[in-house]
Amino acid sequence: MQSFRPENGKLSAEEKLNLLVEFGARISCELRLDKLLDIIAQQITKMLDVGRCTIYLKDVEKNELWSKIAQGRGLEHTEIRVPLNGSGVISIVARTGETINLPNAYEDPRFSMDVDMVTDFRTHSMLAIPLKNNSGKVLGVFQVANKADATAFDKKDEGILLLLATLAGSAIEIAKLYQDVHVAQLETIYRLAVTAEYRDQQDTRAHLKNISIISYLLALGMNKKDSELIKNASPLHDIGKVALADNILLKPGKLTPEEFEIMKSHTVYGGRILEGAHSKVLKIAHKMACYHHEKWNGSGYPKGLKGEDIPIEARIITVADVFDALCAFRMYKKAWKTDDAYAYILGESGKSFDPHVVAAFKKIYPSVRKLYANISVNQPQPQTSDVPVTDEKKNS
Ligand SMILES: [Fe+2]
Ligand SMILES: [Fe+2]
Repeated sequence: MQSFRPENGKLSAEEKLNLLVEFGARISCELRLDKLLDIIAQQITKMLDVGRCTIYLKDVEKNELWSKIAQGRGLEHTEIRVPLNGSGVISIVARTGETINLPNAYEDPRFSMDVDMVTDFRTHSMLAIPLKNNSGKVLGVFQVANKADATAFDKKDEGILLLLATLAGSAIEIAKLYQDVHVAQLETIYRLAVTAEYRDQQDTRAHLKNISIISYLLALGMNKKDSELIKNASPLHDIGKVALADNILLKPGKLTPEEFEIMKSHTVYGGRILEGAHSKVLKIAHKMACYHHEKWNGSGYPKGLKGEDIPIEARIITVADVFDALCAFRMYKKAWKTDDAYAYILGESGKSFDPHVVAAFKKIYPSVRKLYANISVNQPQPQTSDVPVTDEKKNS
């Protein structure tokens, strides 16, 4: 996009309209807050022809304002924070809702050089305006620095930036709400998953984290577009365990054939719990909960599905789940060495596991190995004899 600043410094009505339409169109379809802030900062930098645009947002809980460094010495995307009650320009604008225009920033005691110090940028002139929502509440601060023509910011600049901030304010508020809802959804899923796994595993959080990462890497390796959803759904694969009685789930010894039949039903219960879900993530979780014990050769349960009749999401979580179960310590077995568990997964290609998923696992194994390098060090030792099992007994 070209700069909207005309030669004579005046914007025609048509140019103003173009500016607003283009800016509005670009920001209105982005719901990811990080991405949105990047777009806004880039657009404003180009439109106003300035050296830098920084957007600070309020963090009400911490009574601070935060932003990400956009450029500088490898610190890109590093978060910077300033106190809301501070004496610097950004804090004052956020508190008072007033615009601050500094023709020579370094000569004003309210200007902090901290960001300049860690970036290859020297601020000369600076303009900071409040970013407000529709009801006039201050959400943060827009800060621009150094006009290309090296003149100070004037009233026209203030007007344009205020106009853009008004448009951006709504988009940012919507993206923040969307992010809050998304985070709340993920937290709920995760805590529900912890509830299901907590009863029979002490290392629940580690297990859920590991299988999420492995599932994500596997899905990425297979170029699955919904890899993020697969990652977020994976912790719920054993949600059906909540319906199992303690005498089955927590039995220290080997399960009888009858008890094992009951244990298998956690897949059915998991399916019932997640049945009819509307969100994409829970729909994927439903497939995982139902079919994560199915095997490629048809010898799994509950349905004995074979090959590609098993949903791909379940074929992925199965590999992640078994690998992590093998590498974990249990009361009835010691933790396998990572390379031994890897060899087991390869050996089960075409038997328990989808060969395509195993091929993807081969590709991602260096990353998986690194992930487990720190975990295996202080593993406790088993109190019963070693049982070289695939955790089938406990249905991890
Ligand atoms: Fe399971
Ligand atoms: Fe599991």
